[in-house]
Amino acid sequence: MVKVSVTSLAKVAAFKAVILGAPGSGKGTISARIVKVFGVTHISSGDKLREHVANSTDIGKQVKKFMDEGALVPDETMISLVSHEIESISNANYLLDGFPRTLTQAEKLQKVQPVNLVLNLIVPHSVIIDRIKSRWVHLPSGRVYNVGFNDPKVPGKDDITGEPLSQRIDDRPDVVAKRLEYYVSKTEPVIGYYKRLGILKDFQGDTTDEIWPKISENVAQYIKK
Ligand SMILES: *[C@@H]1O[C@H](CO)[C@@H](O)[C@H](O)[C@H]1NC(C)=O
Repeated sequence: MVKVSVTSLAKVAAFKAVILGAPGSGKGTISARIVKVFGVTHISSGDKLREHVANSTDIGKQVKKFMDEGALVPDETMISLVSHEIESISNANYLLDGFPRTLTQAEKLQKVQPVNLVLNLIVPHSVIIDRIKSRWVHLPSGRVYNVGFNDPKVPGKDDITGEPLSQRIDDRPDVVAKRLEYYVSKTEPVIGYYKRLGILKDFQGDTTDEIWPKISENVAQYIKK
């Protein structure tokens, strides 16, 4: 048994991972911790898209055209953006965030840049809805507060400017529930695909602190110190 696992670990050349998690699942926090603790490169497809558009690169110009038309950015464009990014990093260890979103994207990515681990965060929807309900935002700056664990110094007021905080319409429980359902319906085929490839790992919990130790233990197996 030991021999088998040593052999299979030795075959893992690098950490080429995807992180999946519903909006509000703590995916951002977990990703940031993986990057900080293990020194892997974070590839956020959303951030990269915005950078390309801001820099008016060839990809950026294409993307802007689709966005201006209110159309989705096609799979081919996303694949070329992401694989370009993976090729350009000197650090072989990376964490893909925000991509792939659909089965087609996952299949295409696996052809050009196969990943070897998929971290799937599972947080009960009721927990996410409660968490988001307690979120207050200072709209001009984007500063976010959470009633109960990251309170503003003065209730309802931004710490820096003293201006009033508001709740986003997007953070209303019914809107959040819809968003979560949409996420599940889009992601289920992606999860099924990675499960069939044998590279999906589920991490379940109510809070980031509960999930993190299990994630950390798993990622450590892929990173050569
Ligand atoms: C955009 O430009 C900045 C500043 O020159 C650079 O650091 C960044 O890598 C560029 N990003 C892309 C995606 O071209």
